[in-house]
Amino acid sequence: MGEPGKTKFQINLRRYLRENDENRDLTRLICEIAEASKYIVNSIRTGDLGVAGTSNLYGEEQLALDVLSDRILRKRLAHSGVVANIVSEETNDIITVSEECEGKYSVAYDPLDGSSLVDVNLAVGTIVSIYEGGNLFLPGRKQVAALYILYGPRTTMVLSTGNGVHEFSMNQLMEYTLTRENMRMDEKASIYAPGGQRNLYSKGTESFVSDLERHGAKLRYSGGFVPDINQILLKGKGVFLYPHLKGHPNGKLRLLYELNPMAFLIEQAGGAASTGRIPILDLQPEGIDDRAPVFIGCKEDVARAETMIAELG
Ligand code: AHG
Ligand code: MN
Ligand code: MN
Repeated sequence: MGEPGKTKFQINLRRYLRENDENRDLTRLICEIAEASKYIVNSIRTGDLGVAGTSNLYGEEQLALDVLSDRILRKRLAHSGVVANIVSEETNDIITVSEECEGKYSVAYDPLDGSSLVDVNLAVGTIVSIYEGGNLFLPGRKQVAALYILYGPRTTMVLSTGNGVHEFSMNQLMEYTLTRENMRMDEKASIYAPGGQRNLYSKGTESFVSDLERHGAKLRYSGGFVPDINQILLKGKGVFLYPHLKGHPNGKLRLLYELNPMAFLIEQAGGAASTGRIPILDLQPEGIDDRAPVFIGCKEDVARAETMIAELG
């Protein structure tokens, strides 16, 4: 594994995927997304919304960052030669890149999650879900890969192709190199991230959160799904919830390009992700903007949330 003397943790993303015998076209797809993230991080850091790498067609209009991020990502995926269909949080329909789906991949992504947080200099991210073939309306358990890119003090990519969850960090050459391999969640949370308005929580959710607080769990919530999940994964001891709320039975987060990819990553790390009743990855998507309630993180805590919701609603 790797050149003699070269520690595993200097291996770049492409080499890591190749040395783990990943499918060549999937490797190409993941590396195209990594490439796109260089232009996205540049536009976030500099506020330069007409960055090189997006054609100057966009340069004359000051695009919102999430729209620009969507165009950067979509352009690279569309020209990758390995993509059949695309769904993006920024578009209302499926984008057909190739009618021929055999041997290609379909991608659902949130180009910039938490985009409103950029104005207050908080961390944001890109979330990506990848399926084989042309169908994006499969249960999340059928994903062949999922990743997010976190634009924080460091720019990192957390990725799983079904063989564990690994972190790659962007170095000064804007190349991703392996920094954490096979990350694992502990059984029990010591931090919790309660999304949504507390006064709209159901009895079951309220009882779950009070129980966490009684056991000394500390509140850690930034309002950005990617940094909030990243903290729980890297500390290994946390649970994030954006639950069913009075008046919003499906919570807020979108299934295709927010919940399914994160649930895939967290389950690959030995954690769990549930609607409060069934695993997120078992949901059968109906439409592009399906939403679902979510409890995601340490297995024991997600199971306790399910028990309390079964008892109290
Ligand atoms: P987006 O910016 O893509 O619409 O997603 C924002 C989401 C997610 O990042 C976060 O967990 C959630 O919104 C926070 O919602 P509240 O502001 O209601 O807490
Ligand atoms: Mn989002
Ligand atoms: Mn978004």
